[in-house]
Amino acid sequence: MKDSKVLEIKPEVFWLGVLDYDIITFDIVMETKFGTTYNSYFINAEKKTIIDTVKETFWDVYLKKIESLTDPTKIDYIVVNHTEPDHSGCIRNLLKLSPDLTVIGSGQALNYLQEMIGKPFKSIKVKDGDTIDLGNKKLKVIGAPNLHWPDTIYTYLEEDQILFTCDSFGAHFCKEEMFDDKVGDYSEAFDYYFDVILRPFSKFMLKAIEKIKPLNIAIICPGHGPILRSSWQRCVSNSEQRAMEYMEILKHKNKRILLAYISAYGYTAQMARQIAIGIEQAGDFDIDIVDIENILLGDLEEKIVMSNAILIGSPTINQNTLLPVYKLFSLISPLRDKGKPAAVFGSYGWSGEAVKLIEDHLKNLKLNVLIEGVAEKFYPNNGKAERLTLFGKSFGEKFLESATEPE
Ligand code: FEO
Repeated sequence: MKDSKVLEIKPEVFWLGVLDYDIITFDIVMETKFGTTYNSYFINAEKKTIIDTVKETFWDVYLKKIESLTDPTKIDYIVVNHTEPDHSGCIRNLLKLSPDLTVIGSGQALNYLQEMIGKPFKSIKVKDGDTIDLGNKKLKVIGAPNLHWPDTIYTYLEEDQILFTCDSFGAHFCKEEMFDDKVGDYSEAFDYYFDVILRPFSKFMLKAIEKIKPLNIAIICPGHGPILRSSWQRCVSNSEQRAMEYMEILKHKNKRILLAYISAYGYTAQMARQIAIGIEQAGDFDIDIVDIENILLGDLEEKIVMSNAILIGSPTINQNTLLPVYKLFSLISPLRDKGKPAAVFGSYGWSGEAVKLIEDHLKNLKLNVLIEGVAEKFYPNNGKAERLTLFGKSFGEKFLESATEPE
């Protein structure tokens, strides 16, 4: 089998992850032109321990890797740093092989896993500051919530000074050499990964980095991409820098307004431009007008992340909005975007249901819909441009009034 390699990281600590050269997009929206790896680690301590597993589709190759190191029925613990299925996907199969093994994770992680696996399993719930006793070694638990799920923890193998961080400090980058000093420059992949996956959670990233600063770290083992035995300081410092820059951007409120529209015949696009004129009359804003039909979802998500307010424009077609707008909804994170000022506009022919429908979705996603949306029957005619300018101006003014410091 081609991908059969395991790597020794330190004596009795191994990488047994899998290589995925062929993945095109991750989480449906993230372009992965360098492929990715799903990193799993094995600690051959008195308590035989796996840290995270791999995506379920790689079960066959993964099992062979485990078998090359140990009898899978003799594994004592699986430590789950994060439950997303690219890391937890093989736990169900391992439990079938070895029903007595114990799964260790945060409370949320165990809850999520219970839902995923659907059967009872032995577990130990851990929290920040706890220690997992492996007999001759110890794993210290570091709470790192919302990086990028609420369930996340880091684990630190004290005797070997290895920090396991799952998605943090990872990258979608695939090279079988795996060690950072052997794979060449992959900073483009590292930065892109941070920007798409972790930047929205910069506040939590900075807290986690503060927590790991006192540790004596020799190696960081992330959940994707190269193992950081030479460049972990640079990767942590890069992540810290990018997180601080993002927090600075958030402080400059009232600046960035995303005006995202879809337009069947150009009317809603014209509305967007007219509304932008009105917003500019209200203050000094950076307005980003985007046709959501012609932008990659990953790029659109980045624009949502970087915006301080969002206006969405959609025509009404058959009493509904359109698929690209539903995709946009999926990119809004109530956790991250809660309270972001918003408004809706759109053209219609017979009726104008899309505006109200989008408003309701945005409210359910916890955005702050500042003013009642505007729906125009076709466009432009009969003073509608002035009305749209006023709509934009009113939004800009209310936005300025509503500005508060970020949490
Ligand atoms: Fe790599 Fe959030 O999973």
